[in-house]
Amino acid sequence: MTSGPRHLISLWDLSTEAIESIVERGRAFASDPTAHPDVLRGKVIGVYFRKTSTRTRSAFSVGAMRLGAGVVAYGPDDLQLNTGETVEDTARVLSGMLDGLVARTSADPAELRALADQPAMAVVNAMTADEHPTQALADLTTLAQRFGGLRGLGCVYVGEGNNTASALALALSRFPGTSLELRVPAGYGLAPRTLDQARRLAAQNGATVVERHDMEDLPADADVVYTTRWQTTGTTKADPDWRNAFEPFRVDSRVLDRCPEAVFMHDLPAHRGEEVTARVLDGPRSIAFEQARNKLHSAMAVLEWSVADRTG
Ligand code: CP
Repeated sequence: MTSGPRHLISLWDLSTEAIESIVERGRAFASDPTAHPDVLRGKVIGVYFRKTSTRTRSAFSVGAMRLGAGVVAYGPDDLQLNTGETVEDTARVLSGMLDGLVARTSADPAELRALADQPAMAVVNAMTADEHPTQALADLTTLAQRFGGLRGLGCVYVGEGNNTASALALALSRFPGTSLELRVPAGYGLAPRTLDQARRLAAQNGATVVERHDMEDLPADADVVYTTRWQTTGTTKADPDWRNAFEPFRVDSRVLDRCPEAVFMHDLPAHRGEEVTARVLDGPRSIAFEQARNKLHSAMAVLEWSVADRTG
């Protein structure tokens, strides 16, 4: 039996096999969250959130407990990082005590990479400004559960090309036949580097990733219409008139009806009346709260993948 940390900082770092296995384990935990071995018994997981969170923090805390681990929770003002201790020293100290650290820290993923630069403690990105990888894993778990698999799915993402959209692009582009259409206001698309990475993955895997700045010609055969809050947690927009650019990208019944077979997804939290109408979010085609529940099952799968002892 060997053990060693496996970090989850960006989905770009993970193989398709790793993503598939986390999704499959997430589905297994979803079908019976109580019937699992205590794979993290004797382990301790740190849960460090410097920014607000309802779902991700709860999912990883509860998930760790359900897998038999102890949990240490750190709020935004708890660590000596705030008084000037270096990230490197923090990583060195915490890795002598914790088996895993789930962190929503600064906007900069470099801080997470510095925390991961030690040999003993797995570091999981619970959201940075540029990527929300555990959200995409929960989303894929929900999609696989709903559609029986991921190959060939068509997804229309509407709204800001934010961290959730980035992670979704890096995840969906692994699966043959998938198509992701990002419909984003001009100036609010995916970061060029992420779009390039997603397109490269898509080209390798027989998938497509398209970014457009209009709402014309939505694919009528889409399986999913997905949106997120216009004001992503922890971010602000420089243009005071940004709402004008976003107005055409609200998901209302007319938009959803242009994709008549599609389910509606939202990573939550939502602002009803802004990025989505209440009628859509609370309507029969919405699986947003199923998606939120799967944050727990997927967090369990991520913790098992990153922290549990394993052979080989
Ligand atoms: N979707 C999501 O990450 O929710 P929280 O910000 O509440 O964790």
